[in-house]
Amino acid sequence: MPGLKGPSDYSQEPPRHPSLKINAKQPFNAEPPRSALIASYVTPVDFFYKRNHGPIPVVDDIERYSVLIRGLIDNPRELFMRDIKMLPKYNVTATLQCAGNRRTAMSEVKTVKGVGWDVSAIGNGVWGGAKLADVLELVGISKLTSTTKSGGKHVEFVSIDKCKEENGGPYKASIPLSRATNPDADVVIAYEMNGEPLNRDHGYPLRVVVPGVIGARSVKWLDCINIIAEESQGFFMQKDYKMFPPSVNWDNINWSTSRPQMDFPVQSAICSLEDVTAIKPGKVKVSGYAASGGGRGIDRVDVSVDGGKTWVEASRYQKPGAQYISDDMNSDKWAWVLFDVTVDAPQSTEIVVKAVDSAANIQPENVQEIWNLRGILNTSWHRVQVRVGHSNM
Ligand code: MTE
Repeated sequence: MPGLKGPSDYSQEPPRHPSLKINAKQPFNAEPPRSALIASYVTPVDFFYKRNHGPIPVVDDIERYSVLIRGLIDNPRELFMRDIKMLPKYNVTATLQCAGNRRTAMSEVKTVKGVGWDVSAIGNGVWGGAKLADVLELVGISKLTSTTKSGGKHVEFVSIDKCKEENGGPYKASIPLSRATNPDADVVIAYEMNGEPLNRDHGYPLRVVVPGVIGARSVKWLDCINIIAEESQGFFMQKDYKMFPPSVNWDNINWSTSRPQMDFPVQSAICSLEDVTAIKPGKVKVSGYAASGGGRGIDRVDVSVDGGKTWVEASRYQKPGAQYISDDMNSDKWAWVLFDVTVDAPQSTEIVVKAVDSAANIQPENVQEIWNLRGILNTSWHRVQVRVGHSNM
């Protein structure tokens, strides 16, 4: 639609908080300092990681902005913002995590391809908008449908931004129709983040949020929705964001042998300490986040002050003043938990964290076992070093 979606170039990028660590300038990729993640349960927009594969688009005429839904359905339809906003509004608290979170640590084992990230390519947002299941009903797809009459089995989200990996075409990704039409999967077409209209960095005017699934499927700057028979053939579905064993390299890779990654595995990281932190001998507070995909809660967070020989259990919390019980109706099932514990560190040591989710999945001990050429899903035990000193600290 000419004139509606403005030019995408790097000269038009929005202002950002100066404390963000910029991992790549063009496309813009940045994460907050570790300490910002544990300052609040809901991550402020300014401190939410920004992960892009192309320049941030400008949508300057919201009246004319629309999303076309088409493909293997009887009644294709163009939906405007007012159509989306007329549907019941939900606020879904969900943690978004880039599959590349903690990639830098994986690349220390052996080189991997991709933007380097510390532990902060993750954030917890409150996403306000319409449920995708309700949106799809507007084009005649009932709730809990896995195949349309014309054979549609997947829902592809196509964006406005243009990426070099797509040879200048739009970013796109898909999810199964069964997930899209399941109201309990809480997939939202969001127009708000943390109670404010989405900003440009995070997908204004509309983005998809697929809770419990790697961030790559939560397409920003939505342009159209295609109901299709097979998974999206987009680069980021077929040639990226797939998990491979350590034996696969760039010479022997066969992308078709692995499915596009959806749910993310159990993850945790210490955010109160850097990779190496100088401290005084005595007590040290260890806090951070733990999260699991697929709506699984966090049953335990273990912290070790002797490199993993012995462990203590950290306390876990979500909303202030409310007890966190994993998989309880009152817990936010798609959201992380924050944890903390105070431990004794009389001498220099390695502090380690690992989490256990409600399906008893545990993080792997070593990054070597899960190394993969794209450097995704580094969920190995998170380790930091404390250097205990006695003077002027
Ligand atoms: N959507 C579009 N259109 N373009 C993108 O580059 N990046 C994806 C996803 N959606 C991306 C996108 C990836 S890899 C992640 S991790 C999340 O957006 C990041 O969302 P955020 O920048 O709001 O944190």
